[in-house]
Amino acid sequence: MKKLVFAHCALLMALVSGQSSMAQTVEGNVTNGRQKVAQCIGCHGLEGYHASFPEVYRVPKIAGQGAKYIVSALTAYQKGERRHPTMRGVTSNLNAQDIADVAAYYATLGAASAQVDSGAVRANASAMTLIEKGGCKSCHGDNLSTPVDPSFPKIAGQYADFLLVALKSYKTEPNAVVGRGNPVMGGIAKQFSTKELKVMADYIGSLPGELKVVQESRFR
Ligand code: HEC
Ligand code: HEC
Repeated sequence: MKKLVFAHCALLMALVSGQSSMAQTVEGNVTNGRQKVAQCIGCHGLEGYHASFPEVYRVPKIAGQGAKYIVSALTAYQKGERRHPTMRGVTSNLNAQDIADVAAYYATLGAASAQVDSGAVRANASAMTLIEKGGCKSCHGDNLSTPVDPSFPKIAGQYADFLLVALKSYKTEPNAVVGRGNPVMGGIAKQFSTKELKVMADYIGSLPGELKVVQESRFR
């Protein structure tokens, strides 16, 4: 019996380490990534650029986001776990190496430039109570910008209107074109009303963070 349990553990270990070594095989390259973002800058390289689906909101800031999270998000669009049609289209032509490269590029983009908007925070007791209730800091970090796992997003200072769209999308049962299937955030977002999600989104968006839009209008 003991032997059997041991064999079982060994198999599990092999599976787990097999998975992580697979994830590590694709190293992102910043220089190559720079050559692959021509199709991204029209939306993510323009300050305050708006998307209009499923409602009007600013496209997310991705410069300064964690590379592992960018990979995870892009893969989720590619696989259809995230339904957003534009991002599904954009990722359909990328392979794992392209995804790793653009992720490495955006993670470091603007790293040297100064922090903006750090004076905008206003203490908001109801938002802080909701954030406490949802345990948000246990995964996204004490300042909501230092996630406990690199595949989780930084959210402090992200555009508030995008944060709300993202939070609502975890509550939506995924259909052909809207919704995100992530089970972790699904369970969390469903505990809150849309009004409560907005209170949190507005507050989190006002916090200082590392996310930014770096103007990338240069012709490639
Ligand atoms: C036509 C506009 C457009 C283009 C082009 C575009 N994106 Fe996006 N991107 C969006 C929108 C809108 C969202 C938000 C989608 C959602 O609600 O999930 C998004 C989401 C993302 C996210 C997830 C951000 C987060 O915080 O969850 C990443 C990462 C991303 N895009 C990277 C890229 C990369 C890399 C490219 C180029 C290969 C690209 N995008 C091209 C509009 C665009
Ligand atoms: C158990 C860990 C965990 C907790 C607790 C948690 N999150 Fe998340 N959150 C995640 C993960 C993982 C993702 C990425 C999901 C995905 O890929 O779609 C995420 C994604 C998000 C996003 C989307 C960000 C983007 O850029 O697209 C927002 C917004 C968010 N969380 C806000 C919150 C808020 C607000 C709370 C508290 C009410 C919270 N989270 C609690 C793990 C967590």
